Amino acid sequence: MPVLDRLTPPPLVAVFDAYGTLFDVHSAVARHAAALGGAAGPFSEAWRAKQLEYTWVRSLAGRYRDFEAVTEDALDAAFALHPAVDPGLRGRLLEAYRVLDPYPEVPEVLGRIRGRGIRTAILSNGTAAMLSDAVAAAGLAAQFDGVLSVDGLGVYKPDPRVYATVLEAFGTARRETLFVSSNRWDVAGAAAFGLACVWVNRSGRPDEYGDLPPLATVATLDDLA
Ligand code: LAC
Repeated sequence: MPVLDRLTPPPLVAVFDAYGTLFDVHSAVARHAAALGGAAGPFSEAWRAKQLEYTWVRSLAGRYRDFEAVTEDALDAAFALHPAVDPGLRGRLLEAYRVLDPYPEVPEVLGRIRGRGIRTAILSNGTAAMLSDAVAAAGLAAQFDGVLSVDGLGVYKPDPRVYATVLEAFGTARRETLFVSSNRWDVAGAAAFGLACVWVNRSGRPDEYGDLPPLATVATLDDLA
């Protein structure tokens, strides 16, 4: 049975994390895999890990830099960690990051959710411009009632103020607000805030944050609706 048939109360809005949940963050490096050779996988993992680390450190230190800048800083860290990778790829990788591939099931799942009368939105660390580019490139602009960015707040997930913006935008109660993320730490933050959470565990990772569980775990977004 799809997750949306099992939730009580039924959600009024389904809010998705962007990077890693709707869009494959590793698709930027994958497009240039031939140029990176055997370093492609570890390089992409380092880029993503540093990007997330920088969001947490900057939030805690009160030194916000927007996600575009943090993504560039993290890419430079990945180059420093992998000196064999050609730094001449920098511009092409950043361009590719603006137009990441959506996961294959995303367009149809969004259609099915919206077909149930449930509103859909994005809540992301990304800047409005980054998210607008990604959504447009994936042909998903008509599939969202809102695209919410942390950028106006100047703090990143999992600060509770970030999750609160959804309630303000849609006028929903916490338990009526479904939050879907592949990032287990993001699910922990949203669950701590009181949203109804689904974890997308695409790669079968072990669970974490046992005191802050999702209501359901799915292998792909297809299991939602
Ligand atoms: C985002 C990051 C967490 O989209 O992936 O907010």
